[in-house]
Amino acid sequence: MAMQLELEKITPVVGVIAHGIDIAKPLVPEQVAAIRNAVLENGVLFFRDQGLTQETMGGFVGNFGEPCNDPFLISNYANAAGRVIEMNTVRYRKATAVWHYDSSLAATPAALMALRAIELPPVGGDTCWSNMYAAYDALSAPLRDMLDRLTAEHSAFRVLKLMGINASDEYLDGEMRNIHPVVRVHPETGRKALFVNELWTQKIVELDDQESEAILAMLFAHVQSPSFTMRWRWRKNDLALWDNRAFMHYAVKDYTETRVLQKALLKGDRPYGPN
Ligand SMILES: [Fe+2]
Repeated sequence: MAMQLELEKITPVVGVIAHGIDIAKPLVPEQVAAIRNAVLENGVLFFRDQGLTQETMGGFVGNFGEPCNDPFLISNYANAAGRVIEMNTVRYRKATAVWHYDSSLAATPAALMALRAIELPPVGGDTCWSNMYAAYDALSAPLRDMLDRLTAEHSAFRVLKLMGINASDEYLDGEMRNIHPVVRVHPETGRKALFVNELWTQKIVELDDQESEAILAMLFAHVQSPSFTMRWRWRKNDLALWDNRAFMHYAVKDYTETRVLQKALLKGDRPYGPN
């Protein structure tokens, strides 16, 4: 008999902690299904005290999809074991202290993601998550109707600027530029989520530049409401598994020390809108 997954919600809209499960051990199908449901329902699921190697981390996340590379980091981590990377985040902290989906510039952004804390600053370096179903639902009906019909261009332009790299870089070509719906229909839940983000979204295609800038600025401010968000204070060996299709994250850049996280991405599909 599989142990029941014991769940403790963090807020009513985002985040839940799973107790009483050792994820380094092989999971039975009932446990995999319970974990997947908890992630779909709460956006992000946390496990405490999980001492995992790159191999056991890869084995755990492999229950939920096909591990894939981060298209933006691929050149640095092309040989990562089981596609699980271990990274010191301090050098990326300016670029990740912005609400974002990972890899939304890709044609098929990651579906699920996992992070595990290996080494942490004494204080600081928290991660926040925000529920984009709730953010969408909180908009007025006429605005939702308009957004339902729009698409936006995602590219590495802003990230490169934040990292101090000339934005005419080769990253901006080809695969690093894609058009996605502004409102994404989640392929598993069927619910609508806002799918623009301040890190990767450049422009709403159907609007002129000034209109696009104003609408995006309004949406980027809207998604930051504490009503949709939570904040996680990491402990060593905490693991977070989340749905990168409807929940954004933000890494607080209030630290300067080493902060090492294990990270894995699971392959997603091409986002589609309501129309
Ligand atoms: Fe991220």
